[in-house]
Amino acid sequence: MDREELWTLMKVSEHLKTEHIFGVRRNLLKGKILGMIFQKPSTRTRVSFEVAMEHLGGRAIYLGWQELQLGRGETVGDTAKVLSRYLDGIMARVYEHSLLEELARNSSVPVINGLSDDHHPVQAISDLFTIIEKKGWDVEGLKLAYVGDGNNVCNSLIEVSALSKMEIWVATPKGYEPNEEVLMSAERIWSGIHLTNDPIEAVRNADVIYTDVWVSMGMEEERQKRLRDFSGYQVNSKLVSHAKEEVIVMHCLPAHRGEEISNEVMDGPNSVVFDQAENRLHVQKGLLVLLLGK
Ligand code: CP
Ligand code: NVA
Repeated sequence: MDREELWTLMKVSEHLKTEHIFGVRRNLLKGKILGMIFQKPSTRTRVSFEVAMEHLGGRAIYLGWQELQLGRGETVGDTAKVLSRYLDGIMARVYEHSLLEELARNSSVPVINGLSDDHHPVQAISDLFTIIEKKGWDVEGLKLAYVGDGNNVCNSLIEVSALSKMEIWVATPKGYEPNEEVLMSAERIWSGIHLTNDPIEAVRNADVIYTDVWVSMGMEEERQKRLRDFSGYQVNSKLVSHAKEEVIVMHCLPAHRGEEISNEVMDGPNSVVFDQAENRLHVQKGLLVLLLGK
């Protein structure tokens, strides 16, 4: 997605959200069917995509990895070729990012990344929409501070920051930095990407503070080590006090309350985490209309 496409998506999503508020349902995807492949669990992604398709007059089919022949060894490539004969689009959530690439290479219908170990683009583009909603369209010059693990969500936020020219400060413990390749390609188009090991430096004067779990799906065996390594990286009132007074606090959810974010911040006046979750629905509707609509 380039900058222009990202902005078109923001505008279309705003329009669809406004229509939704006024109870307008337009059958923009009448008769279209989205297949949703899940190799990992999901609450938001699954429900918001399914509801988005329903609201647009289409439908979505949940396809659990283990219930598909994928679970018995059918290749991703063959699966993509077959599903392309039935479906108008595929959304997939997988462990290895290369599985998504293989799906996309072999599919003749659009493939949407619903999260991989390395990226979570539908989350990050929805988050830009939430930032615009709260801070206005002129996001250039805003300071976004990401505190915690340099994970899939962080990688995608870096890409979205580069496209929208938001200043992004990423504070991680040593060894938990974001993906090298993502950094290199984002830095080619945007100089406002800063890495630090100091959460206070990252959040100082920030307009947006963002965090995510310290133990992502699939990393459960590293839990004890990670809890030790990330101590001092919790987004709590003390840390938030270094940001601007009107800072918004974001989390893609699910949260591990009391680990990466304290209860008082998650439920406090600066938190926009549930608006953020809601906006997944509106922005994914925009994305689906642009990808699957005529
Ligand atoms: N934020 C997000 O993608 O949530 P789920 O894992 O519940 O889909
Ligand atoms: N980083 C988290 C995001 C969940 C939506 C994970 O991968 O588990």
